[in-house]
Amino acid sequence: MNFKRFRRKRVNPTLRNLVAETTLTSNDFIYPLFVREGKEIKTEISSMPGVFQMSIDEIVKECAYIRTIGLNSIILFAIPDVKDSIGSECLCDESIISRTIRAVKSEFPDMFVVTDLCFCEYTDHGHCGILDENSTVNNDATLELSQQQALVHAKAGVDMIAPSGMMDGIIEALRTALDENGYENLPIMAYSTKFASAYYGPFRDVAESTPSKGDRKMYQMDPSNRLEAIEESLEDERQGADILMVKPALSYLDIIRDIKNNTNLPLAVYNVSGEYAMLKNAGAAGLIDYERVMMETLLSFKRAGASIIISYHAKEACELLNN
Ligand code: PBG
Ligand code: ZN
Repeated sequence: MNFKRFRRKRVNPTLRNLVAETTLTSNDFIYPLFVREGKEIKTEISSMPGVFQMSIDEIVKECAYIRTIGLNSIILFAIPDVKDSIGSECLCDESIISRTIRAVKSEFPDMFVVTDLCFCEYTDHGHCGILDENSTVNNDATLELSQQQALVHAKAGVDMIAPSGMMDGIIEALRTALDENGYENLPIMAYSTKFASAYYGPFRDVAESTPSKGDRKMYQMDPSNRLEAIEESLEDERQGADILMVKPALSYLDIIRDIKNNTNLPLAVYNVSGEYAMLKNAGAAGLIDYERVMMETLLSFKRAGASIIISYHAKEACELLNN
């Protein structure tokens, strides 16, 4: 095949697009947003330029803007004012996350609102689950409270739930609770293969969710293990997940492809805070062409097999795609 000759004939950008095997569109993205209490609050996070903690009114304004560039999906994280050992704040209908879902959905009913379901943002110890006396995560107690949290999100009108805590049996537990309460059509996107990664560092600044002691290796995956990574995702598929996920993205492109080749479910990838911060800071230092490196990076996720990209770059990428 004469690819080299053909490449020289492809100077026309329309022709290049016609034959492109992989393309990015604004429909590929879910944009993470961080909500906190207050009014007219929009605080930039120093380790993640361009990422803000916002009060609900500012979140609604941000949604109004991103819709104009074709970005219609968000994933919400909350930073509550009060934290306790079991994360009670996220278990009531007046929780900050419920008020945010209602505010966004009442203003923009067709906006696709996803919630991250976890306990690390709501607990005073900062772990993704409830701890027992010896400070280990109590898996089954966490499942029960996760069911409650899911129903709170569902009642507020969320469009999809994304459990990120890496507890055993979480997908089945949530599916059962949702089905029994009349939410059988609410999809679950599983954080199915989530590694214990140092790339989450800046996120924990934004979400104020760094564990006060210990680390997340007792529930997140070991980056050394490829077969286990595939099995983790397939297990969530068996339990009823609608969408699988690999997280982080850039150091795990091989795993995205491996899982893609082992499932027919749609696959998402989470391009995490540390990955974003590296590009942002390298761009700001004049070391790389930020926009080109960003688009090349995002394209690699689709080429590896992801159809959904959760990324802090989503807004800038959609702005570029719209021009
Ligand atoms: C909470 C959660 C985390 C991220 C998404 N959901 C943090 C963690 O597990 O420590 C990370 C996102 C990022 O780094 O951008 N379980
Ligand atoms: Zn968590």
